Amino acid sequence: MRISVVGSANMDMNILSERIPLKGETVKGTDIEYRFGGKGANQAVAMAKLGAEVVFYGCVGDDENGLKTIENLKKERIDINNLKIISNVPTGIAIITVGENDNTIVVVPGANDYVTKEYVDSVKKDLLESDLIVLQNEIPFETIEYLINICYENGVKVLLNPAPALKVKENLLEKITYLTPNEHETKLIFGENIDIEEILKVYPNKLIITLGEEGVAFAKDKDTIIHISGRKTKVVDTTGAGDTLNGAFAFKVIENGNIEEALKFANVAASISTEKLGAQTGMPTLKKVLENL
Ligand code: RIB
Repeated sequence: MRISVVGSANMDMNILSERIPLKGETVKGTDIEYRFGGKGANQAVAMAKLGAEVVFYGCVGDDENGLKTIENLKKERIDINNLKIISNVPTGIAIITVGENDNTIVVVPGANDYVTKEYVDSVKKDLLESDLIVLQNEIPFETIEYLINICYENGVKVLLNPAPALKVKENLLEKITYLTPNEHETKLIFGENIDIEEILKVYPNKLIITLGEEGVAFAKDKDTIIHISGRKTKVVDTTGAGDTLNGAFAFKVIENGNIEEALKFANVAASISTEKLGAQTGMPTLKKVLENL
């Protein structure tokens, strides 16, 4: 099984703070650490750590962060033959404040903005060999739309993790195999006053809503909601937990198509990932997830 990710790669600047500052406020940080990140790269690494065959499509700059990112993806045995290095452009950067068991993130896309339709055309033949293509919203949205359309036309399954939150057009929703927003993203896509259970029932076996420490939910059919409760753990950093869930879900669902089993598996993987600082540092191996299932 071959899973491809078309997405972002960032260098994360993790700033540890007792609490997240309010608007206009200055607070004293306790530490700063640089870690690999980017929702695309994170999801690729989550799958690779579980043993999946993963191809990563994306762009980095020709700076030190780009070189380090390439080394990291290679170390994780991810196929980066189609990764593009963009001259005179910085690799994506994310500034993450970690505090109060939560985080806030500001992303400066840099080279991620060069994941264009033209780039997709240059890798299209290889890309369409995939069993599943995993996307997030950290590359230009017109590229996302383009990818969803070509996947649909060519019968390739596509998972869209709509983070950061952006509205998804109705006609595009139909073409997505799995859509995995969190509650905030769900409201942005379907409306502020949407009832979570009702909207899940409109998109059975497609819409998967992540609920933070409350777990994850989807509808098995028009009448049956399946809610998988969150797994309690000692949280150090939630950055990348959603990426781990998406990666682990993709890895498992492509094996046998069982959404419920895949989500139980992914839920455990995501909770384990919060036990260490950094988006990718705590992502578990297959053995570790199975031991905690
Ligand atoms: O989902 C977490 C990721 O979001 C971080 O690694 C950061 O790079 C941002 O893209």
